[in-house]
Amino acid sequence: MQEIESVLKENRRFEPPAEFQSKARVQSFAEYERLYRRSIEDPEAFWGEVARELPWMRPFDRVLDWSGAPVARWFEGGEINASAVCLDQHLETERRTKTAILWEGEPGDRRSYTYEEAHVEVCRLANALKARGIGRGDRVALYMPMVPELTFAVLACARIGAIHSVVFGGFSAQSLRDRIEDGSCSAVITADGGWRRGKVLPLKAVVDEALDGLGGVHTVLVVRRCENEVAWQPERDVWYHELVASQSSDCPPEPMGSEDTLFLLYTSGSTGKPKGIRHTTGGYLVGTYLTARYVFDLREEDVYWCTADVGWITGHSYIVYGPMANGATQVLYEGAPNQPHPGRFWEIVERYGVSILYTAPTAIRAFMRWGDEHVEKFDRSSLRLLGTVGEPINPEAWMWYREVVGGGRCPIVDTWWQTETGAIMITPQPGAVATKPGSCTLPFFGVDALVVDEEGNEKGPNEGGYLAVRKPWPSMLRGIWGDDERFVETYWSKWPGMYFAGDGARRDEDGYFWIMGRVDDVLNVSGHRLSTMEIESALVSHPSVVEAAVVARPDELTGEAVCAFVTIAPGVTAEEALGDRLKEHVAAEIGKLARPAQIRFTDALPKTRSGKIMRRLLRDIAADREIVGDTTTLEDFSVLARLRGNED
Ligand code: PRX
Repeated sequence: MQEIESVLKENRRFEPPAEFQSKARVQSFAEYERLYRRSIEDPEAFWGEVARELPWMRPFDRVLDWSGAPVARWFEGGEINASAVCLDQHLETERRTKTAILWEGEPGDRRSYTYEEAHVEVCRLANALKARGIGRGDRVALYMPMVPELTFAVLACARIGAIHSVVFGGFSAQSLRDRIEDGSCSAVITADGGWRRGKVLPLKAVVDEALDGLGGVHTVLVVRRCENEVAWQPERDVWYHELVASQSSDCPPEPMGSEDTLFLLYTSGSTGKPKGIRHTTGGYLVGTYLTARYVFDLREEDVYWCTADVGWITGHSYIVYGPMANGATQVLYEGAPNQPHPGRFWEIVERYGVSILYTAPTAIRAFMRWGDEHVEKFDRSSLRLLGTVGEPINPEAWMWYREVVGGGRCPIVDTWWQTETGAIMITPQPGAVATKPGSCTLPFFGVDALVVDEEGNEKGPNEGGYLAVRKPWPSMLRGIWGDDERFVETYWSKWPGMYFAGDGARRDEDGYFWIMGRVDDVLNVSGHRLSTMEIESALVSHPSVVEAAVVARPDELTGEAVCAFVTIAPGVTAEEALGDRLKEHVAAEIGKLARPAQIRFTDALPKTRSGKIMRRLLRDIAADREIVGDTTTLEDFSVLARLRGNED
């Protein structure tokens, strides 16, 4: 089998801004290298020291036991409670009265909580769950809008040792049902509804549908958010505010074993049944605590905002656990980025003086498309660090993020990681590592990442291959719920002792990582294996193009031909001549072999609810096949209908 060829050329390089560097946690490349080397050469000493910064209820006996590989055991013998790490430890310090959450609903309503107030909310809810018979080891599904109660629910489960399984509030009844069933959940926490683009998402009604005829769930706890009408099953359904009101705010945290399961989070992958990724307590907390602290260079006075939903791993690790373990002040926003106007995010940045912003390339490209004026209207001088996550960011979007959003002042941390890795794995230390647009740069402490060939041999500089990780890390997944075989087969069977991430990547001459997307998204033109992401980057570098998705279409001559779905900038006309110009542009940027055989203009691309382009569906459309397989994670079904027949 052939390797993946990398064709992306990008030579811009930005040193950490001097002002940022002078105050950063890691202030020079030499310091990063020293810490990194130590973390790799003596991981147990490194992680043991970090772990001791957390409030253990019983100290651990041993840092790592890898004898049961690929299932790692971190900090065994130790007892800790995740909600106490995020809340109780701060109550002994000046952070007691510090703001934890600055929340804004989509309609504009606002609430805020100090650490002390959040602690009371979580304890009451934890007692309410106990009153309904929920305890250690029980699985609780959370299907909620982005309201503070979602964070409280996560932490209340953790407090009593129940395992939370958050299902993003945009999933269908069927997807929710599958996840409740797979995890044998006994309770669901939801809301009457949530606001999205000015409309009420009827969450409780979806829960009712999901539970129809399904046994096992004895309690549905319902937050009153939108006051929309809901059906009611008096035995099963309880109003959150009613149940919580009568509860005591005294609820001692349950001492949890370091390797006890903290949560399940389902990830769909590109095919097959969703996998319930299982994360445990001690290692996950250590990983999210340290990455949040170093990658975002978190300081006491920062106002941090991660725009993800708590329903994704990004929200688990970098809204709930990482920032709160560090006692950060953070913004939480319920709604859409363009509601009621395309400048909503920047209005929020101005209002709260956000200093650290963490968002996704798909959002960045949407803002590019909506126009700079919506960004520039608001004061962004409080920003000092920008982050991105979720997919490869094309250099054009990276440059726009840097120049327009950050005014050229802020370092960008492009963070590569996965639901499975639990915490950020590859990313620049913002005060120490120079950045290059489109590269997630270098591994975080303790992460022994590399690029290998089919046989597991390390590739040379600028050769494309598979991204792999050699050593265990504390926040790694411990399994797939109920399917240990699939866990081993999916992640650990390609090469002995190495984690297979499923992504293509290359390292450049400086050792920087350039992620080329999922290996399933590679196409093969005349025997050259090309990453779709690199061709997309070339397309987006043309001023008329805002977003592009490239897939393979069967071709008699070349095996596969490049078919590109392209969204163009406002005011540009979709015409054959433009299609031809774009084909030539790609040929000039990359080479003739990457020249698209077909360009299709579209006003939107099919995406998952977390913003990933569903290339699987586009492959079917490009090949004129019936769409097969699961479409339940698609965000906007009308996109598919519009895509068919839009040929140049
Ligand atoms: O393909 C990589 C891409 O997203 C995948 C993981 O998706 P998920 O489990 O949903 O987690 C997303 C949030 C961590 C990866 O295998 N990905 C994520 N971050 C990046 C990325 N690709 C390139 N650059 C990134 N920074």
